[in-house]
Amino acid sequence: LLVDASEASGRPIPDTLFGIFFEEINHAGAGGLWAELVSNRGFEAGGPNVPSNIDPWAIIGDESVLNVSTDRSSLFERNKIALRLDVLCDSKGPNACPAGGVGVYNPGYWGMNIERGKTYKLVLYVRSLGSVDITVLLTDSSGQKLAAANIIASASEVSDWKKLEIPLEALGTSHNARLQLTTTRKGVIWFDQVSLMPLDTYKGHGFRKDIFQMLANLKPRFLRFPGGCFVEGDWLRNAFRWKDTVGPWEERPGHFGDVWLYWTDDALGYYEFLQLSEDLGALPVWVFNNGVSHHDEVVSSVVKPFVQEALDGIEFARGPPDSKWGSLRASMGHPEPFDLRYVAIGNEDCGKKNYRGNYLKFYAAIKRDYPDIKIISNCDGSNKPLDHPADLYDFHIYTTANDIFSKNHRFDNVPRKGPKAFVSEYAVNDKRDAGRGSFLAALAEAGFLIGLERNSDVVDMVSYAPLFVNENDQRWNPDAIVFNSSSLYGTPSYWVLRFFTESSGATLLKSVLQTNFSSSLVASAISWKNSENDKDYIRIKVVNYGSNTMNLKISVDELENSIQASGSNKTVLISTNLLEENSFSEPDKVVPQQSPLENAAAKMDVVLPPRSLTSFDL
Ligand code: AHR
Repeated sequence: LLVDASEASGRPIPDTLFGIFFEEINHAGAGGLWAELVSNRGFEAGGPNVPSNIDPWAIIGDESVLNVSTDRSSLFERNKIALRLDVLCDSKGPNACPAGGVGVYNPGYWGMNIERGKTYKLVLYVRSLGSVDITVLLTDSSGQKLAAANIIASASEVSDWKKLEIPLEALGTSHNARLQLTTTRKGVIWFDQVSLMPLDTYKGHGFRKDIFQMLANLKPRFLRFPGGCFVEGDWLRNAFRWKDTVGPWEERPGHFGDVWLYWTDDALGYYEFLQLSEDLGALPVWVFNNGVSHHDEVVSSVVKPFVQEALDGIEFARGPPDSKWGSLRASMGHPEPFDLRYVAIGNEDCGKKNYRGNYLKFYAAIKRDYPDIKIISNCDGSNKPLDHPADLYDFHIYTTANDIFSKNHRFDNVPRKGPKAFVSEYAVNDKRDAGRGSFLAALAEAGFLIGLERNSDVVDMVSYAPLFVNENDQRWNPDAIVFNSSSLYGTPSYWVLRFFTESSGATLLKSVLQTNFSSSLVASAISWKNSENDKDYIRIKVVNYGSNTMNLKISVDELENSIQASGSNKTVLISTNLLEENSFSEPDKVVPQQSPLENAAAKMDVVLPPRSLTSFDL
């Protein structure tokens, strides 16, 4: 491998090359990154009609003592459903309630994580025809008390809806806890918008801290959100529409994501995604619906309201605090504009009947009002030039390990002019290769990423997909980060991405691989500054995808004097089992391992084990 390390040989790699793609899939947000512990907090999961689906709320008591129903008496206009309890038993006498009372409980998203010493903020809305005496309990799954409070109020206090905020300090720990609301007083009680959040979310912004940290460690340069198919919907009526996801959380209608088949309260809404991007130091890439879903479409002649919705969304993100939509953002706590520079018109909609016509309308309107915003088309511009203007085009690839590895050459011959590629979804997803996130998949992806890095004059951005899975609801396999109520781990693909993002902002150096084994080897050379130790390095990465050991001569021109006297090192990703996976119990089984590199030199003979990623920092 010949590397030219002269300054003249270098080409800056786009700063934005490595980022992340968040989709509300696999309960990534609801029951994941968003720290809300109550599932279906507004009882709306069945939609706006009664009876609504109150799942996973469950009833404590039977029909002889309690009737549970839903009605449309909520205080909130956009989500009218409330829960009604007709309590038939009383505190004493022949009609006494069972010990512990009657009521409802919520098990959260497959169990709430309650930790001793931490405080949880309960917010709920209550109404009753008489006085109330309600017991609030956090318990573990066997009923053991973790925290408790009482709600005692006179009839006049609760005759109209009353908002209550109650801090609950946990006296014990359970990863499978539940929230219980019970009473032993006869009467009628309504509950609505019952929320339980840990106090310590990231900066108080509502993000579950351990999950946020996994993202922060990736140092992503952009965040594409909120989908994926989630943006499209199987039907337009179930698509993600930003205006329904902003403003006070209690007033958001929520919606049924009909592609991944679950309800979201949209607490993690458009504002929160923009906030998340800012918190991660990543540029937001907003994907919006362009009037096209999986099964229905709006024709271009009447797509104007969708176009206006997108313009309003951009104003929400960037408009001054005295603009119509900017003022809503300001009222939510962010008077400064968010740094929105990228939008994508739809997801995987190229080829749909109205895509091109709709796209052109969005494009013209956005460029007219926001000429600096970069617009991403869904049509692949790598095979033939696009028939419409765009700054970038989406490129998605889900395939086998062999195929993605061979695709390290995919962008070698695409035209160097015109819109850039945004590889916004890539993964090995063939079950035989990927398992639930295997070493083999990650290795092949590493080869693909080296190819993208080499072609980063035409590839501007790249993100793995999907990012998250709650282990209790896997709708797509594999995923980069696996979690449950209290723990998490990264699959090997996560660690490969993390390894690549470490050197974001690098310069690509000219390198030539002279070998007869070019179908199983791929390499790149970059110069970069390691922000951890503030040292400048030349990093040479090689994937040996073949099953033979390779001996490689590395020769780096212009390096003689600048080899790190100390601090040269080597990173290797390897496993004896191609299908090896990480797990909750062994989260670090397959991760790149770094060790000091003895005898670092401008000319080195190195040994590349079969099926390995090896990287040298000189
Ligand atoms: O990442 C999972 C899905 O794959 C995305 O929703 C979609 O864009 C693609 O088909």
